[in-house]
Amino acid sequence: MHDIKPVAAERLPDLLRKMPKAELHMHIEGSLEPELMFALAQRNGLAMDYPDVAALRRAYVFDDLQSFLDIYHQGTLVLRTEQDFFDMTMAYLERAAADQVLHAEIFFDTQTHTGHGLSADLVINGLHRACVAAHAKLGIDASLILCFLRHLTEREAFECLEQALPHRDKIVGVGLASSEMGHPPEKFSRVFDRARELGFRLVAHAGEEGPPAYIWSALDVLKVERIDHGVQAMRDPALIARLVKDRIALTVCPLSNLKLRVVQDLAQHSLGRMLEAGVMATVNSDDPAYFGGYINENFSQSFAALGLTAVHAYQLARNSFEASFVDASVKAAYLDRLDECFEAFV
Ligand code: ADE
Ligand code: ZN
Repeated sequence: MHDIKPVAAERLPDLLRKMPKAELHMHIEGSLEPELMFALAQRNGLAMDYPDVAALRRAYVFDDLQSFLDIYHQGTLVLRTEQDFFDMTMAYLERAAADQVLHAEIFFDTQTHTGHGLSADLVINGLHRACVAAHAKLGIDASLILCFLRHLTEREAFECLEQALPHRDKIVGVGLASSEMGHPPEKFSRVFDRARELGFRLVAHAGEEGPPAYIWSALDVLKVERIDHGVQAMRDPALIARLVKDRIALTVCPLSNLKLRVVQDLAQHSLGRMLEAGVMATVNSDDPAYFGGYINENFSQSFAALGLTAVHAYQLARNSFEASFVDASVKAAYLDRLDECFEAFV
């Protein structure tokens, strides 16, 4: 079914909430809500720098990516035990399931936590155990993508990969996150070569704040299959043509782009223009505890600001499943559920 019937504007928010979708760009540490952060601090006997949840939330005002990353790294300090990682991941998956996310590919990093003295095993076991438990309890499918931190060295990324290898079966892919400017994708070409040899699926943040050249090198040097963010691609028509030709998905995060001042106003966001150009865009939440909402909030606010329609909604949901790293048969089953939802709705 591709012939999407018109949906009245007042019913569109309901359709966006109810439609099945996949989330492909969400950092699990960025889903740690202030309430849970305080609870974990108390459980672990740690002091918080803020007197209460409201004061912490008031600090969530950012000038750019780096100003966010500084606060975000501070927040990760409360995570100390495998159970903490389990609880954080379960909390996210409960919210995602309520937003009709059928499948989530969750970004995590171990370098932040090994930098605080935790073991990579503890982190990965906690996350994985929550993915298994959430599937049993909620029916949601979740897999894990290990992100290297690009402000650290190539050698440290290799160490991170080695530490993850005993858990190869729990991790679907590797990615690249953290401070983008000054850390181009090619810094990690050899680590990505090794990850590819090991059979990991490959993604990278590129073109969030960085130039289109970083998207080109993520594609041509790292050979990634999806680009995380990629909003700066709109400055380069040849790059847009490449993304369309090779059906490279962009995992776009509208509220993140707004809160990190990549765009000044959601009405100026390029999501609609990407779809009109035939780019395989998807909508995601990035760090929902920090940026003002989970995936459905990203859909509803960007649709309202940009005047997008049910046709765009269908395309974005379809793209999310097509760009996911699941087997063809699973993908086909997700797409059937999407079609059933639209048929029932109109
Ligand atoms: N880590 C968490 N959120 C990120 C973002 N938006 N960009 C880069 N690294 C991140
Ligand atoms: Zn991100």
